[in-house]
Amino acid sequence: MKVVRIGFFDSGIGGLTVLHQALRFLPNEDYIFYADTLHVPYGEKSKEEVREYIFNAVDFMANQGIKALVIACNTATSIAVDDLRQKYDFPILGIEPAVKPAVQSCEGKRKKVLVLATNLTLREEKFHNLVRSIDHHDMVESLPLPGLVQFAENFEFREEIVVPYLKEKLSSFDLKQYGTIVLGCTHFPYFENSIKKIFPEEVDIISGSIGTAKNLKGILEAKNQINDGTGDILFFKSGFKVEDKETLSNYKKLLIMLDELQLCHL
Ligand code: SIN
Repeated sequence: MKVVRIGFFDSGIGGLTVLHQALRFLPNEDYIFYADTLHVPYGEKSKEEVREYIFNAVDFMANQGIKALVIACNTATSIAVDDLRQKYDFPILGIEPAVKPAVQSCEGKRKKVLVLATNLTLREEKFHNLVRSIDHHDMVESLPLPGLVQFAENFEFREEIVVPYLKEKLSSFDLKQYGTIVLGCTHFPYFENSIKKIFPEEVDIISGSIGTAKNLKGILEAKNQINDGTGDILFFKSGFKVEDKETLSNYKKLLIMLDELQLCHL
């Protein structure tokens, strides 16, 4: 069997925000997108439980035959990317909170960085090590926002619902002190406009998805594995191929919505 597809994995629809960037940089690749919707949200579960889900999902994708895997889920990356790399011989990229560029851009401005992510990502050693290695002036703060994962999974993107949730979560923060907000969960870019409404206008909002898509392209180029496919995407939910028209159409609508948001950055 000729292996041509690239695997994308997330607990749910957050991974589409990364796939969306990959489609920009690698439009002629074909993809498998796997959402572990039976077990979303990962960010509120135990590390051990989530590890088992991740390995089951990646075993499934490896059996389909993939030439590279993108862990399009910050929580899964923080828990399992190193061990996954030990087990499989295809390249594995894991999205991580873009703390480094955020700190670099805030240093000169005497501003702070706020990382928004899941509880599990923010608790993990990987995140603390990342911050420790970059943040030498105590500039980085963090806030878990599990409600945004739930909103996204329920296709609830209305600002009149999301903005009050954000305001409540951020009520004790002095919003003027932040120069950059890091979206450390792939579900969060859907809410960029709502997040913008809360912070002062000059605040930058960044995520790691463009960097991950560029890295993926670089790896495939180095391995001479660039494809000339059609950008075809096979969707799976927790081990089952998605064939019902409504779900497929919802996924396509989300990709169009991401086009319209014109998510920027990195
Ligand atoms: C979640 O399943 O809780 C969100 C996963 C993530 O993107 O970090």
